[in-house]
Amino acid sequence: MVTCITLRGFDIRKSYLDPTAQRDLVAALRGVLKAAPLFAPTTRFGKQMSVRMTSAGKYGWYSDARGYRYEPRHPDGPPWPPIPDEVLSIWRDTTGLARDPDCCLINYYGEGARMGLHQDRDEADFTYPVLSVSLGDDGLFRIGNETRGGKTESIWLESGDVVVMGGAARLTHHGVDRIRFGSSRLLPKGGRINLTCRVVD
Ligand code: SIN
Ligand code: MN
Repeated sequence: MVTCITLRGFDIRKSYLDPTAQRDLVAALRGVLKAAPLFAPTTRFGKQMSVRMTSAGKYGWYSDARGYRYEPRHPDGPPWPPIPDEVLSIWRDTTGLARDPDCCLINYYGEGARMGLHQDRDEADFTYPVLSVSLGDDGLFRIGNETRGGKTESIWLESGDVVVMGGAARLTHHGVDRIRFGSSRLLPKGGRINLTCRVVD
């Protein structure tokens, strides 16, 4: 059963994907990961991120010493593979938008990986939401404020949970403090996958 929770404007749909839909989505992502292998970006401060990532779609999110940006190609050279239909149907159903996303960022959290509090602000138009889909191990998702600092609230995101970050929450800081490595058996090697779909242009 899908349960909806609103936390600081984040629209959290627990158990949006049932176990079969989760497995189908992982199977579709396997093709993307084969064409566009995961890589570990560095922040603009030269520190390697603990999360490994890749993308599908017209653009992929990328980071190095030159800063955060969207790129039309994987660092190995080829264009990013198309966003799987399974992902597009979640986007269309949850956002109700006729405009499809330009980027599906795939983040992989292995044991010990985390993502610091940040805003998603490399896109041109913040009236479009960012859609997040969680698969595999549980992740402790922290939600802050639009400005840096202040009180935060956290919620465990589990496999199959979907979050729509839009409206007043579109520029709210968020991050993942830690994962519960081994809490799910969806991914054969464990860990957590988070997809975020973004309209970039
Ligand atoms: C992100 O903010 O890009 C990822 C969020 C998550 O992993 O749940
Ligand atoms: Mn983000």
